[in-house]
Amino acid sequence: MNGEGESATARAGARPRHVAIVMDGNGRWARRRGLPRTAGHRAGVQSVRRVVEASVARGIEALTLFAFSSENWRRPRQEVGVLMGLFLTTLQREIGRLHAEGVRLRFIGAREGLAEKLRRRIDEAERLTAGNRRLHLTIAANYGGRWDIAQAARHLAGEAAAGRIDPEAIDAERFGRYVCLADLPEPDLLIRTGGEQRISNFLLWQIAYTELYFTDLLWPDFDERAYDEALAWYAGRERRFGALPHAEEERVGDG
Ligand code: IPE
Ligand code: IPE
Ligand code: MG
Repeated sequence: MNGEGESATARAGARPRHVAIVMDGNGRWARRRGLPRTAGHRAGVQSVRRVVEASVARGIEALTLFAFSSENWRRPRQEVGVLMGLFLTTLQREIGRLHAEGVRLRFIGAREGLAEKLRRRIDEAERLTAGNRRLHLTIAANYGGRWDIAQAARHLAGEAAAGRIDPEAIDAERFGRYVCLADLPEPDLLIRTGGEQRISNFLLWQIAYTELYFTDLLWPDFDERAYDEALAWYAGRERRFGALPHAEEERVGDG
């Protein structure tokens, strides 16, 4: 994450390269309006569009959105059905525009758990946008951080069993190549809307040094201004990665 020869500590700087978001609070947003929870999910789609546009406009390189956790299957069948339907229709409706804007769209999560039709659309969208580089947009669907770590372990165990890798050679760097998003910089900023201060099994491995930002705003109310507030907060952080604060380090250098 740090360039060679660079100080281990760094001002987060003007903007994060990679932003991850737990989009929470759709249900409460709807209930407060006397609407069914699913109306909140529909409103949440508009927020997704806004944040994607804003990310492109602000030069963010990667945006990773938590859309459906591996535990969200515990919700009523009807709500799960509406969410899956929304993924499918939104994907169909938006993919042309995303592609035209230079967005590379990918999905992470246990794909085999999704309906065949949705899987096919996902495959097509990934193939269509594979060459785009303006924004790496990743949707986590049927994703869990523990699932991610387990699939990496399974993969590595397979390699070891086949004699292609020495178990002794497995360290954090090597392991990290098998978790999702390994080809992107680690998330610099994780935003969670909806007031809860927890990770809910989103990215676990990848957020070891990520700055965490929590807001009470419900996801459908999260707009460009709220996004800019989060980005401004991030710009003021000093990231240390286990080293000393920047000012302290200079003092040490002075002797
Ligand atoms: C987030 O909003 C969307 C998903 C988890 C799919 P919620 O549906 O969790 O909304 P709240 O937290 O119940 O308000
Ligand atoms: C996290 O929200 C999952 C997504 C936003 C997709 P939840 O609403 O599922 O989280 P909990 O249940 O409040 O922890
Ligand atoms: Mg929730």
